[in-house]
Amino acid sequence: MKYDDIDEAFARARPSLNTLRHILRFVRPYLRYLIPPLIIEAFWVLSTAFGPHLLKMAIDGFILPGVHSLQSPSAPSGGTVPGWAWTGIACIAGLMTLNLAFGSAVAVIQRLSIQRAGQRALNDLRCWLFGHIQRLSMDFFDREKQGRIIARVDRDVENLEPLLTFIPLFFVHTVFSLVVVTGMLMLYDWRLCGLIIAFSPLVFAAGLVSEKFGLPIYRRLRRTISRMTANIAENVTGVHVVQAYGREEINLGRYDELLDEYRSHRVAAAFVRGITFPSMLMMFGVARGAVIAYAGYAIPKGLMSVGEVAAAVMYIGMVYGPIMMIAHLYDHLLSSSASSERVVQLMERKPSIVDAPGAHSIPSITGQVVFDQVSFKYDDDPATPWILEDISFRAEPGDVVALVGPTGAGKTSIVNLIPRFYQVQRGVLSIDGIDVRDVTQKSLHQQMGIVLQENFLFTGTVMDNLKYGRPEVTDEAAIRAARALGSSTIIEKLADGYQTDVRERGGAISHGERQLICFTRALIANPRILILDEATSAVDTDTEILIQKALWKLMEGRTTFVVAHRLSTVRHADQILVVEDGRITESGTHDELLSLNGSYAEMFDEFVRGV
Ligand SMILES: Nc1ncnc2c1ncn2[C@@H]1O[C@H](COP(=O)(O)OP(=O)(O)OP(=O)(O)O)[C@@H](O)[C@H]1O
Ligand SMILES: [Mg+2]
Repeated sequence: MKYDDIDEAFARARPSLNTLRHILRFVRPYLRYLIPPLIIEAFWVLSTAFGPHLLKMAIDGFILPGVHSLQSPSAPSGGTVPGWAWTGIACIAGLMTLNLAFGSAVAVIQRLSIQRAGQRALNDLRCWLFGHIQRLSMDFFDREKQGRIIARVDRDVENLEPLLTFIPLFFVHTVFSLVVVTGMLMLYDWRLCGLIIAFSPLVFAAGLVSEKFGLPIYRRLRRTISRMTANIAENVTGVHVVQAYGREEINLGRYDELLDEYRSHRVAAAFVRGITFPSMLMMFGVARGAVIAYAGYAIPKGLMSVGEVAAAVMYIGMVYGPIMMIAHLYDHLLSSSASSERVVQLMERKPSIVDAPGAHSIPSITGQVVFDQVSFKYDDDPATPWILEDISFRAEPGDVVALVGPTGAGKTSIVNLIPRFYQVQRGVLSIDGIDVRDVTQKSLHQQMGIVLQENFLFTGTVMDNLKYGRPEVTDEAAIRAARALGSSTIIEKLADGYQTDVRERGGAISHGERQLICFTRALIANPRILILDEATSAVDTDTEILIQKALWKLMEGRTTFVVAHRLSTVRHADQILVVEDGRITESGTHDELLSLNGSYAEMFDEFVRGV
C-alpha cells in the first residue's frame, strides 16, 4: 500500500487504544511530575465542592432562622435579622471568598506543573521521531513527500499538546468532582441525587453526536494541513523551476484550492462544535428544571431544606459543567487524536531493511566487492519487471570500476545496493566474502564514502561540511586533506574561506565548488569503498582539471565504483561495466572493450566526438 493510500485508509479508521498507548509511552517518565498537580486537584475539588454547602449553611443556619425570628410575636416590628444571623452570614461569605481565592491560586501552580511534564514528553517524542526517520530505509523517502514528513513531525506533534496537558487533567477533575458532588448530594437526599445522575447520560449523548460527526472532519482537516505544508515545501525547494516555467499563478491557484478545503473543514468543525455546546446546555436546563420541580414536592414534605435545594442547583452546575467543558475540549481532543493517529502511523513505520538477528559489525575490510547473480527491483510486486537482472562482477581491493550506459539503465541502482540502501531480491552481494545481509548497516556505512549525483551540503560552514563524517578530526587535518586533494585553492577563494556559511542545501556554493567540497569530505572520512555518482553538469576547464586531479587522488588505494561521465575516468578504470536495460552487456578494460567493437566502442566514439 502506498503511503498516500495509508493516509486515506486510516482517515476512516477509529481512534484506537493502540494510538494512545504509543503516545503515553512518552508520558510515563514524567508521571511523577503529575503527582503534585493531582494532589492539588483533590484539594481544589474538595474546596469547590464545599462552596454550595456553605451556601446551604448560610440559608438554613442563619438567613431562614433570622427571618423566622422576625416573624415571632416578640420580635420588634420592621426590624432586621438579629446580630448573630448577620455574623454567621458574614463569616460564611468570607469563607466562600477565601475558598475561591485558594482555588485560583492552585490553578496557576497546577498549570505550570502540567505544562512542564507535557512539554518534556513532547520533546522526547520529537527526538524519538527525528531519530526514527533517520533510521528509515530509502524506499520510504522515495515515496514520501518531504513536506508531509515535516508536517507530521512538526505540526501534528505540536497539536498533541492538549492531549498531554490540560485534557487529562480535566478528565481527572471531572471524575473527582462527580464522586465528591454525588457524595454531597446523597447526604442531602438520595432521590434528588438519582434525578441528577439520571440526566447526565443525556448531556453526554449530546456530546457523542459531536464525536460521530467531528472526528472525520478533524481527520480531513489534519490531512489538508499536511498537504498544505507539502505544497509549500515543494514550491520553495523547486522555486527555480517554478519561476523558470512561469508556474507562479497556477501554483498559487493550487494552494488556494487547498486553502479552500482547509477553510471548509474548519467551518464544518466549528459547526459541529457550535451545535454540540447548545444542545448540552439544553439538557442542562431540563435537568435543572426537574430539580426545581422536585423541590416543590420535597420541601413541603420536609424531605429537603431550602438551603439544600439552593446548594443542589449549584451542584448541578458542578456535575454538568465539567461534562459540558469536555464537549468544549472535545474540539481539542478530536483534533489531537487525529494528529496522534498520524504521528503513531509514522512511529509504526518500520525500516524495510533491518539488521538480521545476530548481525555483527563488519570487520576492517580490504574492499573486495562481489555481485553474484544479483537481481533487484524497487518494489516486491512479482508482476513488475526487474530493474537489474543477473548482475555479476567482481572488484578487487583498490580497483576502479566505472559504470557506463544510457540514462535509466540502472547504474545508480547498482551502486546503491553496495551500502545496502536497498535490498537485493535475488543473488548475493558480498564484501570481502561477507554477505552484506549478515552485517549491521551502521558498520557497513562506516566503511563507505558516497558522493552522489546531487551533492548535498548541510547548514553550517564549509569546515563543518568537510568534517561531517568524522567530526573528531581537527581543522588542521581537514585543511591538510583539502590541500592534498587540491580543493584548497577553490575553498580559500570563497568569501570566508573554510568558514564560509554554505546556507541550507548549499545554495550559496557553485556546482564545481560543491563537488570539490564533497570529494574532500569523502577523503577525510577515509573509507575503504568509495561510491561516486558523477554529476553531469559541466564546469569550466580549470575547475574540470581540478576535479579530475582530486578524483584520482580520492580514488587512490580504495575500491571505487564510479558512475562515469568523464572520458578520463572511464578510460583509466581497471574495469568498465556497460549497463544497458538493467543488465551488464559488456565488461573489461578500455582496450578490451574497444576491440569488442560493441556498445562501448560506439559510446566511446560519441564521447570523443563530444569532446
Ligand atoms: N527509487 C526508485 N523507485 C522506483 N524506481 C526507480 C527508483 N530509482 C530509479 N528507478 C528506476 O530504475 C531504473 C534505473 O534507474 P537508475 O537511477 O539506476 O538509472 P541510471 O542508470 O543511474 O540513470 P542516469 O544515468 O540517468 O542517472 C529507471 O527506470 C528508474 O526509473
Ligand atoms: Mg543515475
